[in-house]
Amino acid sequence: MNERRSIPTEELLNHEVVKEVTSSENKALLERRGFRPALCEAFKGKYTLLVDTDKYSFDKDRHAAEELPAIIDNPVQEVVREDSPDAALRGDYEKMRNIGIVFSGGPAPGGHNVIAGLFDAARAANPDSRIFGFLMGPDGIIENEKVEITKDMVDAYRNLGGFTMIKTGRTKIDSRSKKQVSRETCKNLGLDALVIVGGDDSNTNAAFLAQEFHEDGIQVIGVPKTIDGDIQVRDSRGQVLCAMSFGFHSAARAFANNISNLSTDSGSDVKYWHTCKVMGRVASHLALEVALQSHPSITLIGEELADYVDEERLHLSEGGETDYKAYGMTLRHLSRMICNDIVRRAAAGKNYGVIVIPEGVLEFINEIQVFIIKLNAIIAGYNATHDRDFHRKYPLLEDKLEFLKNLSRRPREQGSIPIWSGRDDDLFNDLPVFFQEGLLTERDSHGNFQFSLVETDKVIMGLVKDYLDILRELGEYKIGIDPAYYRKVLQNDGLDPDVFGPVVFSNYGEEGMLLMKKEVISRKTLAQELVKGGKLEKDEDVPPALEKIFRKSVPKFKTQTHFYGYDGRGNDPTYFDCTYTYNLGLCVFSLIANGATGQMAAVRNLEQDFSRWEPVGIPIASLMHLEERKTKLALVIEKTVVDVNSPSFRVVKALREKWLAARPGDDEFRRPGPVLCFGETEEERPITLTLNALERKGS
Ligand code: FBP
Repeated sequence: MNERRSIPTEELLNHEVVKEVTSSENKALLERRGFRPALCEAFKGKYTLLVDTDKYSFDKDRHAAEELPAIIDNPVQEVVREDSPDAALRGDYEKMRNIGIVFSGGPAPGGHNVIAGLFDAARAANPDSRIFGFLMGPDGIIENEKVEITKDMVDAYRNLGGFTMIKTGRTKIDSRSKKQVSRETCKNLGLDALVIVGGDDSNTNAAFLAQEFHEDGIQVIGVPKTIDGDIQVRDSRGQVLCAMSFGFHSAARAFANNISNLSTDSGSDVKYWHTCKVMGRVASHLALEVALQSHPSITLIGEELADYVDEERLHLSEGGETDYKAYGMTLRHLSRMICNDIVRRAAAGKNYGVIVIPEGVLEFINEIQVFIIKLNAIIAGYNATHDRDFHRKYPLLEDKLEFLKNLSRRPREQGSIPIWSGRDDDLFNDLPVFFQEGLLTERDSHGNFQFSLVETDKVIMGLVKDYLDILRELGEYKIGIDPAYYRKVLQNDGLDPDVFGPVVFSNYGEEGMLLMKKEVISRKTLAQELVKGGKLEKDEDVPPALEKIFRKSVPKFKTQTHFYGYDGRGNDPTYFDCTYTYNLGLCVFSLIANGATGQMAAVRNLEQDFSRWEPVGIPIASLMHLEERKTKLALVIEKTVVDVNSPSFRVVKALREKWLAARPGDDEFRRPGPVLCFGETEEERPITLTLNALERKGS
């Protein structure tokens, strides 16, 4: 027998093998850092030019023209390679510059490559140029907290996920004073340009800062970031300028890979419904892409629910009157639709599966929307007329409910409709307590309801579970039994399957799985059915083989809940996002070097081969429109939600039944595999983009 030599811990830690296997500089990391993304044609030379184009048109908002006069007439600018620059262009390009960059909002894979692209381009144009990273998001600008970005820092983070190099934050530079302080920071640092990498609100902010900094000659450029995928830019004729924000593909692929693993688990253990809430504050783009990538059994898409019309109810409307309640989905109805799918799969012998629920789905449920709008108005109204904020005055749920009850009891003023009626109060009190609490939580800094704080999946699956219990009692939720198995079990006990089959099953002799009769919901009712069919004497015991079959037919509804969000934001970027973001960084520098401001860097033709990608500058002011924020109208960039007429949605809708696989046989789960940034992954891009491009209007 070998004697084990005990190595002293000090010696162990200095051992080559230990050092190698515990090093944070592992092989995968080194390979990632070493990857060099392909360049757009425009960036293959040393210089670029901006060419204004009038191929695109926008319906500009009158208020945007008033508030953003310095940038409202910006055109769309195509970034093109210039191999014979004149002296003026060379001078502009090679000028030594100070550029500040900030991340704003939630992390998204690829952010570090935006910095890398900008850094590489700026240093290639002039090795003395300096890039400053503002720390912890916009607070870094307000508080003048920054770091000078060096080559070593850039190299350490190339192709890596998250925003770890300079961190991020959600502060908005929206007030007069914050804008002024930011202006001072940028002036004191001698910045030529500020780059804001963020979502719709942050790019809105970039436009206002471009206006604010205009007279100081400080340029401001935005970059479209968010895993939610809701920054997409089309002109008024539908021509696509920015098909997708960066980070979306990586997050969706990461979620899809994990969800596909759950599909494998659920199809192996055959006992769980894995409930996967997938991020996306409002829009369901991520859920849609996850569905295309991994084919879960059920995927909800919020935007579809908003358009729902209950045809049956509409037809039942009495006296030719329209029943307006038939329009829009209710929570109860939604849970019943989910139950229907679960029951159908169970009947096919599959009492398991995977359901994907978008984080923002409740936004599209009519009754919830009404509550949110009413409560937003009530809370904002209270805050506007009282010294103390609503949530400070009524910290406990019971106080808030009491306040609402009193509101519903207030005598109705002549000619006015009460905002909170007795019916609202009754319906609200019917909701689970945790959901009431969610609906009454503090709004975010924009006065918006914070969906990420509500356990959307818990609300929906709670109702699903309750309804399945009822269906089980009614004998409508049963697990289908494989006929071959049934025969084997009965024959093993010396019983003739054909004698008992027609008595206990409702579809004996037909194709497919065997379903116990509706009446058979317990051992007692099983015995009664056998007695009724003349196969058992009144006091005789049910044969064990039949009891075994009965037990197999009774479903338990077991769920495991998962949340896919933060993990995807921190995931390393895909090949697509590595390449996209590096080129976005190069595009940012081209816009700056060519004197642009108030523009968003973007890349056209993302759905096509990399050789056809075209960097552009998009005028942010042209994208603005008025939206209600904190009960006031404000100029913002509109979020893009899932278009239910788009090819990507229509494909998911058409394949829904196939992916539900409510029939005996194999499931349809797809395995997208882990996220990679090199190897055989070049062809991978968001499936949503590929499909939507099939009907893309010519550009
Ligand atoms: P951004 O729009 O800032 O990119 O963030 C999106 C998001 O990831 C949403 O999907 C999610 O609802 C939200 O951030 C969560 O925010 P927080 O980081 O504050 O928890």
